[in-house]
Amino acid sequence: MSKKRRNAKFFKLGSRIALYISALSALIAYLLVFFILEHSQSESLMVSGAILFTSFIIAYTVTYLLEFRRIKVLEQVSKNISKKRFEEIEDLRTLYDDELDYIIKHLIKSSRTVEREIQRLNRIENYRKEFIGDISHELKTPIFAIQGFIETLLNGALEDEEVNRDFLQKAMRNVNRLIFLTKDLMEISKLETGELKSELEDIYLYETIHEIAESLTYKAQKDNISLNITNIDKNLQVRADRNQIKQVLINLIENGIKYNIPGGSVDIGLTDSKNPNKINLFVKDSGIGIDETDIPRVTERFFRVDKSRSREKGGTGLGLAIVKHILEAHGEQLKIKSVPNEGSTFILTLTKSELDK
Ligand SMILES: Nc1ncnc2c1ncn2[C@@H]1O[C@H](COP(=O)(O)OP(=O)(O)O)[C@@H](O)[C@H]1O
Ligand SMILES: [Mg+2]
Repeated sequence: MSKKRRNAKFFKLGSRIALYISALSALIAYLLVFFILEHSQSESLMVSGAILFTSFIIAYTVTYLLEFRRIKVLEQVSKNISKKRFEEIEDLRTLYDDELDYIIKHLIKSSRTVEREIQRLNRIENYRKEFIGDISHELKTPIFAIQGFIETLLNGALEDEEVNRDFLQKAMRNVNRLIFLTKDLMEISKLETGELKSELEDIYLYETIHEIAESLTYKAQKDNISLNITNIDKNLQVRADRNQIKQVLINLIENGIKYNIPGGSVDIGLTDSKNPNKINLFVKDSGIGIDETDIPRVTERFFRVDKSRSREKGGTGLGLAIVKHILEAHGEQLKIKSVPNEGSTFILTLTKSELDK
């Protein structure tokens, strides 16, 4: 304790400065009194001794008042940085606007940068841990299923032609799930770490939607769902990353088909936005709908209202998470409205190209 207290009160730098100043003052005083005023040597020594003492006290006090507190702040801030105790660093009200204040201000600023950087790295680390946990969980189901089918076949079922075929088909379905999962995982990890950048260009919206709808017609017909594109100006262009916006459309329309009922429909169209630079695109289905409490969760990675239905339809639970990330990267919004047993509407904003504003 005593060492700490001494450290806190005794200002070493101040005493050194005071010593230099007082020694110099004493020397000048001695020379002045002895040579110019021609006093005796003992008188001159006495005067210079008194000057040495008083100037030391004055110089020490002045430097103490001017710098001691601020040097202590500096010491505290750097100690806090090395101990990663950022919350204790407060903004210091600076009084003098000199070099010392400048250094303090800069050190506080740097400590904030270090703090932010540490927080960012912690976030990435947590994300990585969670992600690996999720992935291993998701991989387990299809891998164990494949293992089960192969084991049963090896244990004798190979003889039975019917079972044989059925099990191999089931194993193949799970292999396909692994392939979808790997593709979506690669996509989402690139999006979430910011590795995949959006390259904006002017895109004809009608053409893009048509292209996607055409590629999904087979799936829709298989489930007896009608796909309708309504009210989209053929010349309207939006600014977006072509592949990413296609991915958004595929994921939303595919969901509209998957979570629908036979004879249902998926409508895709545009409505005006309050913002004249934007346009709202909707994908509306007449399907099973989403419970109100689940709506905020459907864009979470791997969240599925009904796991077995999603799995049966080849879902990975990543589709809407990918949509959310792509739209965030574009600075666009996603709104979800849904009523169970009536249907869901996914509405996203898009930015009109300069020519269309
Ligand atoms: N149009 C929709 N109608 C009803 N439920 C939906 C719809 N779109 C998404 N969902 C629900 O949200 C979950 C997450 O969607 P998504 O991320 O696309 O994953 P999935 O691979 O399961 O389709 C789905 O499993 C489903 O429960
Ligand atoms: Mg999906």
